[in-house]
Amino acid sequence: MCGIVGYVGPQNALDVVLGGLRRLEYRGYDSAGVAVLADGGQATAKKAGKLANLEKALADSPLPESTIGIGHTRWATHGGPTDRNAHPHVSADGKVAVVHNGIIENFAALRSECEATGIEFASETDTEVAGHLLAAAYEAAPAGPGRLAEAMRAVSSRLEGAFTLVASHADEPDTLVASRRNSPLVVGVGDGEYFLGSDVAAFISHTREARELGQDQVVEIDRHRGLTVTDFAGTVVEPAAYTVDWDAEAAEKGGHEWFMLKEIAEQPQAVADTLLGRLGEDGGLVLDEVRLTDQDLRDIDKVFVVSCGTSFHAGLIAKYAIEHWTRIPVEVEVASEFRYRDPVLDRSTLVVVISQSGETMDTLMALRHAKDQKARVLAICNVNGSTIPRESDAVLYTHAGPEIAVASTKSFLAQIVACYLVGLILAQVRGVKYADEVAAIVAELQKLPEAVAQVLTQMEPVRELGRSLADADTILFLGRHVGFPVALEGALKLKELAYIHAEGFAAGELKHGPIAVIDQGTPVVVIVPSPRGRSLLHGKVVSNIQEVRARGARTIVIAEDGDDDVVPYADHLIRVPRTPTLLAPVVTTVPLQILACEIADTRGFDVDQPRNLAKSVTVE
Ligand code: M6R
Repeated sequence: MCGIVGYVGPQNALDVVLGGLRRLEYRGYDSAGVAVLADGGQATAKKAGKLANLEKALADSPLPESTIGIGHTRWATHGGPTDRNAHPHVSADGKVAVVHNGIIENFAALRSECEATGIEFASETDTEVAGHLLAAAYEAAPAGPGRLAEAMRAVSSRLEGAFTLVASHADEPDTLVASRRNSPLVVGVGDGEYFLGSDVAAFISHTREARELGQDQVVEIDRHRGLTVTDFAGTVVEPAAYTVDWDAEAAEKGGHEWFMLKEIAEQPQAVADTLLGRLGEDGGLVLDEVRLTDQDLRDIDKVFVVSCGTSFHAGLIAKYAIEHWTRIPVEVEVASEFRYRDPVLDRSTLVVVISQSGETMDTLMALRHAKDQKARVLAICNVNGSTIPRESDAVLYTHAGPEIAVASTKSFLAQIVACYLVGLILAQVRGVKYADEVAAIVAELQKLPEAVAQVLTQMEPVRELGRSLADADTILFLGRHVGFPVALEGALKLKELAYIHAEGFAAGELKHGPIAVIDQGTPVVVIVPSPRGRSLLHGKVVSNIQEVRARGARTIVIAEDGDDDVVPYADHLIRVPRTPTLLAPVVTTVPLQILACEIADTRGFDVDQPRNLAKSVTVE
């Protein structure tokens, strides 16, 4: 949701913090702000809008050099995206500066409490209470080393909701403290310097050595005393150490105009890497972290797939594959609905949660609800060590690498592949597929990177088409079977990037109402299944193309090489390589990503940071 950076060390803190914010801006870009400690006080700068506005303000009136600083890039929840509401927030005594990611649910009561002591609030945010409470808690804490951490523990224990807080105090020029609950925070450890970040991208150009902070923990980083982690009660805990396995270059645009285009181009690698090393010594498929036994997996009698947005579309594809390969019933649900309707779960239910970021609050809450009901939870996730995989019973990591553009692309393809692997692992453990059958499907999966690479070489006509569609009011997407979730994903990409009304439909459902919206020239994208194997399905979709064309639609048809049946009905024909029906979404999605990107670019929009969105949605 928001991006947080902190730094203590010998470098100029402002440079380090701004560098980190640049890499975290994808998390929110409603406003940005920084605070450094200098001359015994807090020096702050904050601006509504993108980070560039803050950088311009700083160029006009620079902050003093300092060895300690914090920064924030915001996705607004409480209070509009104004200068006033931008973080950091400074306490009434001017000593504490604090940045926050999440929502403090009991902020109204805490605000009244502060106001009763005469404090006047300077913003409409929930965050500001944390600054005032920290200042008071600091005064109440025993003097000496660890005083600011003690204040942070006292305040954090009183907060309800989700938060990562990072704070500095004018009387502690070498110390930063932070705390987290249900919101991400990682610590970077350099040579005589420490970093805090919402994710490792914040400090990857300085160090790859990281420490993972657990739930309800407080960290103090001090230039002289080093790093100390405790729980909210003050008990010291040892944070898990890890080395980040990607470098700063992986988070740069690499010559592409947009991160999204770079990430689309990386898809063959993302798919290949997600498949890498999945075959165990005995020839069986393996998960990354398994806290479930084979018997647990054999006992499963129902699967729920729970996720949001693009990850939900991956879940819809998972249903087709898992049911087909294992014959276990699968339900797919958006995470924000799941726990509120009392789903029927027990120990023999497997809940597969899918999340690129591993921090999506709706998905995390669904996971916790599933665990409360004693269900087993398997996470498919792209961010190592994030909250969702940490709280799950088993994990399958997608190895798509860092995804910076707000729109999910390579992580989606990697998620689909991971879903196939889950289906195959279940089939293998439960003995419903022979080893050679599993191996044959894996061999088909291994052809996917090449197929995606081929699609990418033939995208110029799609870009041209995109430019011609830039003025469209509505674009519809149709598909059947696994083509239906692809249609939903194509529509989502278009909405979020190009701000054009778009809807995805099950192609057979169109005639039950939505066909009425089709007018002369309405663009309709149709994802056509392979004519091989399930030709009944293919025939039905070809009929659907004719139906919309008869009503004036401009048809944009995505069909595999050699499918000649569609040729007479396609105003625009986009070819993709032949792929088995169940695996086809991995290739048919790619032209839809390019189409949305090109339309958005032609309309002059920021493709990487669409309006109103954030990469990682850490509030419910
Ligand atoms: O990090 P997650 O996969 O949990 O995120 C879920 C959705 O917020 C995400 O897929 C969102 O829909 C993307 N912006 C779509 O491009």
